[in-house]
Amino acid sequence: MNSARDLCPRRPLVTIAVLLVGSVFAPARLTDLAVAADVPRGDHGAATMEYQLRQLDKLMPAADVGRAPPGFDQVIWEASIPPDNALTPERVALGRKLYFEKRLSADGTVSCATCHDVTRGFTDQLAVSEGIKDQHGRRNAPTTLNVVLLRTLFLDGRSPTLDHQARMPIVNPIEMGMADGAAAVRAIQDDREYQAAFQRAYGREVNYEDMGRAIAAFERTLIFVDSPFRRFLAGDRSAISSEAKKGWILFNEKARCVTCHPMNTSDPLGTDNRFHNIGVSARHADFDALAKQALRALQQDPSEQKLDELALSTDMSELGRFMVTKNRSDIGAFRTPLLLNIGITPPYMHDGSVKTLWDVMDHYNKGGEPNLFLDGGMEPLALTEDEIDQVVAFLFALTDERFAGQNSRQFQAQKEQARKERPLRDDEMAFRLKLAFEK
Ligand code: HEC
Ligand code: HEC
Repeated sequence: MNSARDLCPRRPLVTIAVLLVGSVFAPARLTDLAVAADVPRGDHGAATMEYQLRQLDKLMPAADVGRAPPGFDQVIWEASIPPDNALTPERVALGRKLYFEKRLSADGTVSCATCHDVTRGFTDQLAVSEGIKDQHGRRNAPTTLNVVLLRTLFLDGRSPTLDHQARMPIVNPIEMGMADGAAAVRAIQDDREYQAAFQRAYGREVNYEDMGRAIAAFERTLIFVDSPFRRFLAGDRSAISSEAKKGWILFNEKARCVTCHPMNTSDPLGTDNRFHNIGVSARHADFDALAKQALRALQQDPSEQKLDELALSTDMSELGRFMVTKNRSDIGAFRTPLLLNIGITPPYMHDGSVKTLWDVMDHYNKGGEPNLFLDGGMEPLALTEDEIDQVVAFLFALTDERFAGQNSRQFQAQKEQARKERPLRDDEMAFRLKLAFEK
């Protein structure tokens, strides 16, 4: 067989890195995070950095960075690591320190872990994130779990690698707000510990490029794919409930989820790594006017920083992939997200506008929100209430066992919320009692 690099010269086909090795893969159940009221919270409502670090230790006792994570093919795993950033314990340790470092923000209150919080599924569980000076962006923070498995980063794919992506939030004006990379370096370069750690990791002084590399090295260790569903796929028929099994069948058939969220033994991630307009932005965006505005703005300043700013803090955010490719067909399109650990990362969609997985199902059941650029794969599904419950049960079976307690608490909380309101439910559309153009 070809080596992984031959399969995809630009970026290795990491998706198949998760090839199941069935019986080999059965790690002991590790600590579950208690996300109770007594979690000590600090700036912006995130768990304190000290607490998060302690929880992380419990979740991930020292990773063996030389070997592929359990169940991953070694060759393909190695191919997902860039040649200039071989994974070493020193680099992972440095990246871990930087990930929780609030001095990398202009007002000293924000680190990566503020928005990608260990105790909240490595997201902030807010609709949109809060950065320095309590500023809110337009996008929902995705999890940093399993990001090594994605082929592009950010919901519009505007960053090509983890090493590149990790530098962006530091200089984004509403996230960490540093004036530039040099300012980020100045913030920590007098610290002896950092001086020594950068030398140990990269043999160089503190610098901005290596900051990105180290954080990416740390993120490559955040592999959390050991879900009940994965054990089910590997042959353990009792790993998921009979309701979830029915949901799995619906996922592949009547509900058509699999067309964009492929899931099978060799590729259990749940993303096609492509971009689709499923009609989330369409609820509130005037696409044509926005697209014109975006083209003008990007012509004036085509830099990646400008793009990052526009995507995070203006109405143009809703254009999604279009901002990167300028293709009309990409208007309102976002990358299909990984469905791993989906139970513990609400709210959902790029703008965090969807509160529960029941609401997600209501959105799909009515065929999304009609708009000119809607993906052809979106159609009313005519799923009954029981069927919706079954797909939701399946989705909750995709969470890593280490978060099992959090996952069942989320299930209960979302179920209660869904009992109170189902704002996206539209049976007339779902069952085609009415057609989209009649609206
Ligand atoms: C103020 C909150 C905030 C901070 C601070 C922050 N992020 Fe994010 N992060 C987000 C949001 C919001 C997105 C989605 C942005 C987008 O897609 O346009 C995101 C996206 C990402 C992604 C892409 C995930 C995917 O599915 O494509 C990664 C990886 C990531 N952040 C890592 C980091 C790292 C590393 C840091 C620290 C250097 C960091 N983030 C700091 C809010 C934040
Ligand atoms: C046409 C492609 C397509 C189909 C079909 C599809 N999805 Fe999605 N899915 C996406 C895209 C793209 C997004 C992100 C949209 C956004 O953020 O605006 C998404 C988002 C989601 C999310 C939210 C993820 C998050 O982290 O916020 C869930 C859950 C989800 N889909 C589950 C499903 C289920 C269940 C089905 C079947 C009923 C399904 N999807 C069908 C493409 C698709």
